[in-house]
Amino acid sequence: MTRSIKPLVAGNWKMNGLKADLAIAAGVAKGYDAALKPSVDLAICPPASLLFAATAALIGSRIATGGQDCSTQGSGAFTGEVSAAMLADAGASFCIVGHSERRTLHGETNATVKAKAEAAQKALLLPIVCVGETKDEREAGKALAVVKKQLRGSVPDGATPATLVVAYEPVWAIGTGLTPTAADVAEMHEAIRAELGRLLGKQAAAGVRLLYGGSVKPSNAAELMNVANVDGALVGGASLKAEEFLAIARACAG
Ligand code: PGA
Repeated sequence: MTRSIKPLVAGNWKMNGLKADLAIAAGVAKGYDAALKPSVDLAICPPASLLFAATAALIGSRIATGGQDCSTQGSGAFTGEVSAAMLADAGASFCIVGHSERRTLHGETNATVKAKAEAAQKALLLPIVCVGETKDEREAGKALAVVKKQLRGSVPDGATPATLVVAYEPVWAIGTGLTPTAADVAEMHEAIRAELGRLLGKQAAAGVRLLYGGSVKPSNAAELMNVANVDGALVGGASLKAEEFLAIARACAG
């Protein structure tokens, strides 16, 4: 944890959730009590189809919502795409970009991710730019180099803590129950902060929230969140259960 930074725990529902599942968001809101609010920010990123309703369900809770992806384009003939302005109009404050599922399943390059992050910023959304190495890359000793290259290619120029969140998500840890060691997370997050310092200047980099993501659960959250330079979590599977998501938030609040 970087003590001067208020941590953020963001839930990525992925392609899960129908109207009835807004009860999960309501459950999170119910447990986000006066003790938790000053210590940790929360965001829920439901599928785009639920964004408007989820934001409405969370009014008054101080829990933000976010999209899971956005178009690089502002508007026009792009069938099936959702623009950052549309997400903002539906109530979002955040937008995940460059998630590994987008990078691998949809062939998104660093340049695409950067364009999406810039589109999000333009719509006054806070992009959560995801980076992370594959299992092969880690085993080949290339994890740091891969992630630094992703940062150089994906992070918008001139970003500040008010316009950028970064999430380190090792691809091999997503949805697998596997997590890196605390020492590996510490090494990576320190390297990410240093690379951001080179890209954005030390002062800006010092305040950017660096989330860890990949099989974060109530049982491992405290250990992961206590690592230096970890300023919160990006949570997939466990964000679909209000009690688990809240337990992770509590671990993050310290
Ligand atoms: P997981 O997903 O928590 O289910 O591993 C994390 C993510 O993909 O953001």
